[in-house]
Amino acid sequence: MTGTVIVTGGGGVIGRAICARLAESGYTPVAADLEASVPESASFEHDFVVMDVTSTESIRAAVAAVVREGETVAGVVNCAGILRDSFVGELDEAKLDLMFQVNIAGMARVVEATADLVREGGSIVNVGSLTGHFGRFTGASVYGATKAGIAAYTRYLAAELAPRGIRVNNVAPGVIRAPMSPSMARVSGGEEASAAHAMLKRIGEPHEVAEVVEFFISPRSSFVTGQTLLVDGGVVAW
Ligand SMILES: NC(=O)c1ccc[n+]([C@@H]2O[C@H](COP(=O)([O-])OP(=O)(O)OC[C@H]3O[C@@H](n4cnc5c(N)ncnc54)[C@H](O)[C@@H]3O)[C@@H](O)[C@H]2O)c1
Repeated sequence: MTGTVIVTGGGGVIGRAICARLAESGYTPVAADLEASVPESASFEHDFVVMDVTSTESIRAAVAAVVREGETVAGVVNCAGILRDSFVGELDEAKLDLMFQVNIAGMARVVEATADLVREGGSIVNVGSLTGHFGRFTGASVYGATKAGIAAYTRYLAAELAPRGIRVNNVAPGVIRAPMSPSMARVSGGEEASAAHAMLKRIGEPHEVAEVVEFFISPRSSFVTGQTLLVDGGVVAW
């Protein structure tokens, strides 16, 4: 496969795995992330552009730097996301705002700036989460609401972009091996507790999410749109 794929949050753990997997298939991934997330690892061989999904101006500047006049892209992966705990009695306005601004509004802003650039037969993949589909991570209510919102956003966007030949799907990971933020550790109870929720009795690896994202970007999934696929080791189904 060929063509540029813009990966927001591409400097993060799952985003980097997505870039690597897309490159393996012949795509040209461009990681779009906050300045602070420029991957230092020498193994990160992909293009990187600074993008803050909370700012339309930043998104437009990044897209203009990546896509030249008259060019199209093969796809967009909306992987930028942020989790902050939100226990009742401790609600913090700044955390609340940030989660909606990045996880939901950020996604809509990126689509607004890129939908006209996605070629016919191209694909948009939104990265949701297991937390949008179950209630066992106490303290993740607001994060879970943003991630559940991504499933609805995906369905509506899929319907709206179908006439242009663009597919839109949502990959919702379960707990994936990545350094756990204090918020994530607090709501999930840690890796062992998270593994216990899954039929497969383990947490997932970033490449296992990347594999599914690449499938949705590729024409191998040409008749699939508007879907949410949980990559969670069998948590929600259980
Ligand atoms: N790790 C997990 O267990 C897990 C589970 C389910 C869903 N997810 C989702 O997968 C995605 C990637 O998560 P991850 O585990 O790789 O975390 P991560 O923190 O390593 O990656 C997230 C990336 O998003 C970027 N980001 C944050 N705010 C941004 C902004 N305003 N503009 C642009 N980029 C911004 C961060 O800089 C970071 O590089 C997120 O959407 C997350 O919600 C992760």
